[in-house]
Amino acid sequence: MSKTNIIAGLDVGSGKMTCVAAVQDFETNTLRVEAANSISCKGLRAGVVLDIRETSAAAVSLLTGLERECGKDIGALFLGVRGSHLESFTNHGTYNISRADKEITINDMQLAIENAKAIPIKNDNEIINVIPQSFAIDKEKGIINPEGMEGSLLEVDVHVTTGSSTHLNNLVKSIQKPGFRIDGTFYGLVPLADMVLTQEEKEIGSMLIDLGGETMSVGIYIDGVLRFSRDIPFGCDLITSDLARLLHTPRQSAKEIKERYGVAFPTFLEDEGEIPVPTLDGRSMHNVKKSFILDIIQPRVEELFEEVKKVVDRSGYKDFPVVGVLSGGGSLMPGVTNVCVNTLGLREVRTGMVSREAIIGDEQFFDPKYSTALALVAYASQRGMYEEYNRASFEQKTGLFSKIGKIFKGVDIFGS
Ligand SMILES: Nc1ncnc2c1ncn2[C@@H]1O[C@H](COP(=O)(O)OP(=O)(O)O)[C@@H](O)[C@H]1O
Ligand SMILES: [Mg+2]
Repeated sequence: MSKTNIIAGLDVGSGKMTCVAAVQDFETNTLRVEAANSISCKGLRAGVVLDIRETSAAAVSLLTGLERECGKDIGALFLGVRGSHLESFTNHGTYNISRADKEITINDMQLAIENAKAIPIKNDNEIINVIPQSFAIDKEKGIINPEGMEGSLLEVDVHVTTGSSTHLNNLVKSIQKPGFRIDGTFYGLVPLADMVLTQEEKEIGSMLIDLGGETMSVGIYIDGVLRFSRDIPFGCDLITSDLARLLHTPRQSAKEIKERYGVAFPTFLEDEGEIPVPTLDGRSMHNVKKSFILDIIQPRVEELFEEVKKVVDRSGYKDFPVVGVLSGGGSLMPGVTNVCVNTLGLREVRTGMVSREAIIGDEQFFDPKYSTALALVAYASQRGMYEEYNRASFEQKTGLFSKIGKIFKGVDIFGS
C-alpha cells in the first residue's frame, strides 16, 4: 500500500464488511469522508472468519472499489473486530514516582498502563486493546492527561479487550495476504462508543447497544469511564428469520419487509393496512396485515433486549446506566427505543449517530450502517495513528490527543 492521506476504517460485521475512506484536513482539523461501501461475505459469521478465501476476495473487492472511487490508494487501514470470542476487563494499574522532581512523564504513564495490563489471559487469547480511561494522581481521580503534573502515586484505569488469536489471525491474514497492511486493530464498540455517546452521557451512566445482524455489542460507561463491554452472538437477523418462517416468504423478501414496514412498538403502526408478501416460490403474492408483522417483530425485539439485560445483570453494573443509546442497522426500526426502555428499565433511550462535529461528508455516509467504520477512522485520526509522514505534521498541530496517541502506541494496542 503506498502512502497517501486516505485513512480507512474497516468494520468486520455479520456476514459483511463495511468500509469508510476519509481524508484528514489538518488546517480545519476535520475529517472529510470520500467514499463508503459495504459488501456481503459468506466467509464471515458474526465477525468470525469461516472461509479465508471468500473473506479475502470480499476485502479486496471492497477496498479496491473504494480506492478507485477516491482515485488514490488507502494510506492507513484500521480494522474493527467483534465477536463473542472477545472479552473485556476493566483493570487498575499503579506506578510510584520516586524521582525528586515528581513531574509525571509519558514514560511514567506508560509504566502505570503496563502494570494495569497484568491480567490472566486464556490460552490462545491475546490482548487487542488497552485503553487508558482516566488517571489519578495521589488519589485525585478523573485526570485525563497527567503529563507534566506533579505527584507521587500515579494510578490508571484501563479497559482491556482480549480475543482469540486464531480468529484474529485468520481475519488479519484474509486482509493482509492480498496486500493491504493493517495499521491498527480495535474492538469496534470502543471507537463507536467514543463517537456516539456524549461526554454527559458517559458521566451520568449510559449503555450503548449496537444492534447488528448477527451480533449485538453492549458497552457501559459510568463516571466517564468504559466499565464493561461484551458481544452477544446473535442480533437482528433473527427478526428476518422469524418473518420468513411465519410469513412463508423468502429470506430476502422478509429482510425487505422488515426494513421497509417493520415496527417494534404498537404506537408506530401507522394504519391497519395490509402489505403484499411474496410466496415462498416467488410466483404470487398474499396480503398480510401490518399488525401481524408487528406481532412477529415485537416479541423478538423484546427477547433480544432480554438477552442484553442478562449480560448487563451479570456485569456487576446493572444499577448504574440511566440512559440507553442504540446504534447499528437494527436501531433504524421504529419503536426499538420504546422496547428497550421497557425491557431494560432505562429512563431514556435514544438512537445514536456518529457526531458530526469533526466529520464532514455527504448525508449518505452518516447512515447507521457506516457508524462503526466511520468511528474507526475518526478514533484513529484523533489519536494521530498515522503513517510516518502524516504523523509528523499531525503531532505538530495537536496537543493532547497526539500525546495520548503515543501512549496507545506504547502499550501496543495495535493488535497487528
Ligand atoms: N431500516 C431498517 N429497519 C430495521 N432493520 C434494519 C434496517 N436497516 C438494516 N437493518 C438490520 O440491521 C442489521 C444489520 O446491521 P448493521 O449494523 O448494518 O450490520 P452489522 O451486523 O454488520 O453490524 C440487519 O439485521 C438488517 O436487516
Ligand atoms: Mg453495525
